[in-house]
Amino acid sequence: MNPLVELNNITVKAQNKTILDIPEFQICAGEFLGIMGPNGAGKSTLLKVLAFLEKQSGGEILYRGKVIPKGNVPLELRRKFSIALQQSLLLDGTVFHNIAIGLTLRKLPKGDIKDKVAHWLELFGISHLAKKNALYLSGGEAQRVNLARAMIVEPEILFLDEPFSALDFPTKIKLMEDFKGIIETARTTAVFVSHDLMEINYLTNRLAIIVNGEVKQSGPTPRVLEHPNSSTASFLNEWKKFYPLAR
Ligand SMILES: Nc1ncnc2c1ncn2[C@@H]1O[C@H](COP(=O)(O)OP(=O)(O)OP(=O)(O)O)[C@@H](O)[C@H]1O
Ligand SMILES: [Mg+2]
Repeated sequence: MNPLVELNNITVKAQNKTILDIPEFQICAGEFLGIMGPNGAGKSTLLKVLAFLEKQSGGEILYRGKVIPKGNVPLELRRKFSIALQQSLLLDGTVFHNIAIGLTLRKLPKGDIKDKVAHWLELFGISHLAKKNALYLSGGEAQRVNLARAMIVEPEILFLDEPFSALDFPTKIKLMEDFKGIIETARTTAVFVSHDLMEINYLTNRLAIIVNGEVKQSGPTPRVLEHPNSSTASFLNEWKKFYPLAR
């Protein structure tokens, strides 16, 4: 399969420390790729580099086989990607306004925006919140708005950095179930950073384990989880003590 995004010999350095050292890495069309690893391993940095949100110190990034000049990412390429973070970062204004923002920036006709927002409000089960101020939502509601805002622009790749980790368990599992259905229907390629084996096991079909800025293992999620290698076993086996693997 042809990769959408490829990293070649990527390094990221800050204050003389190497944060990321990735000889090769790809995002392939249609996959739900998980990135998991300990605190400070470099997961968020890798996500930002893949999404062209952080400049690499060395190496090159390709989009559909073409090298993208560092620090000079065309707007049309940026607009193919969406990102949703742990903090929903909603703006002061209605839920409708927050979800519409990507389409407003793209100057879509008002009628189209209204129809599309109504569609995504319904998919995420939040139509009743349309007129509510986004700053007064519960954590679960805010994360639904955040994900709807990221999906409404129909991104080619959706990047997610721990979007469920601040939610209580019942809220998390209901949202994850709804989200999985939505993303499978939309066939969106997704890259998902998480600490949580349960989230990774439920959502992803490929998994990369990153430790100390290096991808130590990657492959189909069930295979990686069932057969950790010598570099990932200590991290994964801690999780597996508390989480029985069942899909
Ligand atoms: N701009 C920076 N300057 C200095 N150090 C940085 C910078 N950005 C990240 N780091 C360091 O790089 C390492 C990787 O950070 P990163 O945020 O990618 O980790 P992470 O795996 O996402 O961690 P967490 O699980 O806590 O979210 C950390 O040690 C962090 O302190
Ligand atoms: Mg992080």
